[in-house]
Amino acid sequence: MTHPNILVSDSDGIVSIEISRRDKKNAITGDMYRAMSAALGHAREQSHVRAVLIRGQDDLFTAGNDLGDFLQRKANDPSAAIPFLHLLSAFEKPLVAAVAGNAVGIGTTLLLHCDLVYAADNAKFQLPFVNLALCPEAGSSLLLPRVAGHQRAAELLLLGEPFDATMACSAGFVNRVVPASALMDTAMAAARKLAALPAQSLAVTKALMKRPPERSAREAMDEEVVFFSDLVAAPAAKEIFAAFLEKRPPDPTKIHGHKT
Ligand code: COA
Repeated sequence: MTHPNILVSDSDGIVSIEISRRDKKNAITGDMYRAMSAALGHAREQSHVRAVLIRGQDDLFTAGNDLGDFLQRKANDPSAAIPFLHLLSAFEKPLVAAVAGNAVGIGTTLLLHCDLVYAADNAKFQLPFVNLALCPEAGSSLLLPRVAGHQRAAELLLLGEPFDATMACSAGFVNRVVPASALMDTAMAAARKLAALPAQSLAVTKALMKRPPERSAREAMDEEVVFFSDLVAAPAAKEIFAAFLEKRPPDPTKIHGHKT
């Protein structure tokens, strides 16, 4: 389960999963999703593991899915993000996240599956799915309106602009904003507290809170992925991914099919 860009540690009942691909702003490749899935699988199976911490560094969480990977994706290609998200959304033990710097795309949506989320005051979130000619993933079309309300979720998902930790806190998916220098200690302290509590009670409490009111996050995820898989392979998205990687503006005629 080792991977050079996914640093996993297991001590004192806490599995820490650190995304670490600094030269590419911690963008997540298929192999990195697979390594995170393996770490989650290990944490789920091992009874000595009481909590999981997902983190980047104190100035960076992740720039989201690797756009080079997206550029290569065809409509029916399997995505390694999906098994990872399934594991995350069904994870029975407490999940703590520590977010600093950029948290783009799945860097924000994966937080909707965590139980305690701490953000540094330098955190910058963004859900640029529409901007990339894609649509929401990770169950965010269900979970974000549920925590933030429709209008606030619409602002974040339709406009896709960056927003800060205070906004994420008031949107309801960040517990607390702390100075960047205190982020990792704060998140680890919470994980330690959870690890010291009765594991069965935590698991039952979490399961009760996650019972679906109507549609489950897994159902929303499955619905989203049908559209996402088509959009990620369509010319508009390919043009936007290529433009980002080639450091040029996208050609509007390739996005809209005509000159704007
Ligand atoms: N996929 C692949 N490579 C990425 C990446 C991504 N999601 N995000 C950043 N990178 C790479 C850049 O291509 C660049 O590589 P290079 O040095 O080989 O040219 C390197 O990481 C640094 O990125 P840069 O854009 O120069 O950093 P920045 O600090 O100016 O901006 C971000 C940081 C996160 C705002 C910006 O990189 C960004 O918008 N990334 C894309 C985010 C995105 O759309 N993710 C997908 C969501 S679904």
